[in-house]
Amino acid sequence: MSGFPTVRLRRLRRTPALRSLARETRVSVDDLVYPLFVTHGRGVRAEVDSMPDVYQLSVDNLVPEIDEVAALGIGAVLLFGIPESKDALGTGAYEADGVVQEAVRAIKHAAPDLLVIADACLCEYTDHGHCGVIDEGGLDNDRTLDLLAQTAVSQAAAGADVIAPSGMIDGQVGAIRAALDRAGFDETAIVGYSAKYASAFYGPFRDAAGSTPQFGDRKTHQMDPPNFREALREIELDIREGADVVMVKPAMPYLDVIARAKEAFNVPLAAYNVSGEYAMLKAAAQNEWLDGERAAMEVLTSIKRAGADLIISYHAKEAARLLADGA
Ligand code: PBG
Repeated sequence: MSGFPTVRLRRLRRTPALRSLARETRVSVDDLVYPLFVTHGRGVRAEVDSMPDVYQLSVDNLVPEIDEVAALGIGAVLLFGIPESKDALGTGAYEADGVVQEAVRAIKHAAPDLLVIADACLCEYTDHGHCGVIDEGGLDNDRTLDLLAQTAVSQAAAGADVIAPSGMIDGQVGAIRAALDRAGFDETAIVGYSAKYASAFYGPFRDAAGSTPQFGDRKTHQMDPPNFREALREIELDIREGADVVMVKPAMPYLDVIARAKEAFNVPLAAYNVSGEYAMLKAAAQNEWLDGERAAMEVLTSIKRAGADLIISYHAKEAARLLADGA
């Protein structure tokens, strides 16, 4: 009874119905979060060169996009802002009429039930492109915390449901939780970008968001890619500081970290299928080197199989369409 020829695993692969019955992992539209790049100005809908079908949108062009996202059944968007002007302290991140704050208001007006997650980081708003305050010693961790806290409070005041601090600044989740609570936003949730690696796969995002560092890199705060146990420490600290959801980022090159984090912690786990992962798949598909739709679903399924409860992905709209068509 223990092996071939009694056991034939091909029996359950014979037809689509059998394969469906035996399927262990299913990506659902409910798992997906769609990132949006909101830019200053009016009438802007500019495709990102390295990210086909991804656009920088001005606030006045957000509503049709939001309608489309909601109609596809996607429940949440993640907002990044591209401000008109930048300065050393990233003021545009925490202004009441900043680009993300305006976008949150517009989205909440158009689609009150759509969950709005606001990315809280300074790199899109600083003229040097770093994720916080720069002094002689480099990135000043503790001075950055105050600015991130202000950013989170202004995003919550605009109506953001969830704040997602992405800078890998030590103590950012705790500082944001305390500031939100002090300001009366104790119901605003936090997604910690807990284990975010210093990855080459963010390249296209930095084009899309205009956040490439003008000097140096992000290796003093983002994680060193070879490290695994350190990711578990980062996640544990974020949970202790009050993160409601924790994240591993990027996704595909870090599926092992996702799988272990799922086992080790009892909080919802997000994975970010980042810009470079999207760009390389799209480039291959455009060259007809692979079937882009099948590959996208396979990637999302692998992230779910590894253990992610929610998946942030530029493929979200495409995947929602494919899932509606029975993919
Ligand atoms: C900002 C931020 C980045 C991403 C999300 N938030 C870029 C970075 O850390 O350089 C990357 C997302 C992507 O590549 O899709 N700190």
